[in-house]
Amino acid sequence: MSLFIGGCLLVFLQASAYGGVVQATFVQPFFPPQIQDSWAAYTPYYPVQAYTPPPKDCKITQVNIIQRHGARFPTSGAGTRIQAAVKKLQSAKTYTDPRLDFLTNYTYTLGHDDLVPFGALQSSQAGEETFQRYSFLVSKENLPFVRASSSNRVVDSATNWTEGFSAASHHVLNPILFVILSESLNDTLDDAMCPNAGSSDPQTGIWTSIYGTPIANRLNQQAPGANITAADVSNLIPLCAFETIVKETPSPFCNLFTPEEFAQFEYFGDLDKFYGTGYGQPLGPVQGVGYINELLARLTEMPVRDNTQTNRTLDSSPLTFPLDRSIYADLSHDNQMIAIFSAMGLFNQSSPLDPSFPNPKRTWVTSRLTPFSARMVTERLLCQRDGTGSGGPSRIMRNGNVQTFVRILVNDALQPLKFCGGDMDSLCTLEAFVESQKYAREDGQGDFEKCFD
Ligand SMILES: *[C@@H]1O[C@H](CO)[C@@H](O)[C@H](O)[C@H]1NC(C)=O
Ligand SMILES: *[C@@H]1O[C@H](CO)[C@@H](O)[C@H](O)[C@H]1NC(C)=O
Ligand SMILES: *[C@@H]1O[C@H](CO)[C@@H](O)[C@H](O)[C@H]1NC(C)=O
Ligand SMILES: *[C@@H]1O[C@H](CO)[C@@H](O)[C@H](O)[C@H]1NC(C)=O
Ligand SMILES: *[C@@H]1O[C@H](CO)[C@@H](O)[C@H](O)[C@H]1NC(C)=O
Ligand SMILES: *[C@@H]1O[C@H](CO)[C@@H](O)[C@H](O)[C@H]1NC(C)=O
Repeated sequence: MSLFIGGCLLVFLQASAYGGVVQATFVQPFFPPQIQDSWAAYTPYYPVQAYTPPPKDCKITQVNIIQRHGARFPTSGAGTRIQAAVKKLQSAKTYTDPRLDFLTNYTYTLGHDDLVPFGALQSSQAGEETFQRYSFLVSKENLPFVRASSSNRVVDSATNWTEGFSAASHHVLNPILFVILSESLNDTLDDAMCPNAGSSDPQTGIWTSIYGTPIANRLNQQAPGANITAADVSNLIPLCAFETIVKETPSPFCNLFTPEEFAQFEYFGDLDKFYGTGYGQPLGPVQGVGYINELLARLTEMPVRDNTQTNRTLDSSPLTFPLDRSIYADLSHDNQMIAIFSAMGLFNQSSPLDPSFPNPKRTWVTSRLTPFSARMVTERLLCQRDGTGSGGPSRIMRNGNVQTFVRILVNDALQPLKFCGGDMDSLCTLEAFVESQKYAREDGQGDFEKCFD
């Protein structure tokens, strides 16, 4: 099905049965890439690269997934700011541009904070896809172990994920959401445990006044007297994303901005994450340490060693933190995943993002890092190679000798893992990976204490 509305092509893609195996139904509003891929944190998940199957000498033995909840309504704070900006536009007596005429009879109807139906679908598709990709790892005795942070939208994403997994197995394998970590207590799946962490407001503020001012000036010509400010622009552009995702049809707000302006909004989102809990925030990465220590425990099948956000009671019990499963799935938030990427060394930039100038070559692009339903997957593998590759080929070992490796995919894009000597197949030995995670193993090297000083 494809609709042509207001200059935007909307296609609903629906994959069909393939090769006798029912594929995950992949349904998503699909705009020309220059728009939908510029919605920063509000871009719907898409595979950034086609999934690379493991090399022939390797066999996957364990999978660790951390996934952002699916698409949601605006948070309540954002919803209030969006409505205030819309009200300003509606206060104009007349519009000089017909693209604004819909505002004479427009009512804001979005809810707040919770998962929306499209977000539930994304989560269940992720569960289906996990079953299809890794079904050889699971059995009735070895089901995926699933945890979630306690927000409703995260819990709903987790139960939709387990439902999708179960449906894909024809209800033979029925994992359940087993642990919910309270966001007001020790929680490795949320970024709420560092009261002294700063915000990205200084950096996003600089960029907002640079990119938002000309857009505000134009809107004030199109809607005389509305008094739209640069800050309002960063609230009006995402309304295009929210309305489109909730109503599953293009929002008229999308027509008010050009593809270049959406790209400028993406940079606002990039700065927001980089300076929020990413490399640009002194107390950002430390918030990802607890999860990395849990990941190391699972990969090595050794008890968790952590003195940061972990709940020691839960993590020391085989019931609530088993070490003998093959698939672990944790449902979380974008800001937390950004902290984890930055504590681990993923998407490191050669220099910090410049708040007044987007570097077109940057690899820090929020819509590719943490879109709705984003996922980081750490695969553990046994391979017949020695792991000396470091950027090139590793030597293949004879006589059936094998060694344990890891590789990491973010939204299906294989990460090079230079920080642990990733070879040409982006494989690091487990040993080198563990070694590289010194910041986590040393509990943030003093940063965790700074959260509370
Ligand atoms: C305004 O919107 C309401 C509800 O969506 C609709 O019933 C009504 O016909 C619209 N009026 C005009 C003038 O478009
Ligand atoms: C999926 O998420 C929705 C919220 O969007 C929730 O109402 C529903 O109960 C969830 N479904 C399952 C199977 O958990
Ligand atoms: C740890 O988890 C247990 C079990 O859910 C809970 O009762 C306890 O309050 C948690 N403690 C902290 C500090 O998170
Ligand atoms: C817009 O600003 C002008 C001048 O500051 C002011 O007179 C007017 O009341 C404002 N309009 C609105 C809708 O806030
Ligand atoms: C929660 O985390 C704090 C800070 O690391 C720690 O002092 C406390 O013991 C933890 N509580 C539990 C139950 O793990
Ligand atoms: C990121 O890169 C900077 C500069 O190249 C380096 O100093 C830092 O250690 C790196 N961070 C991580 C977590 O790898």
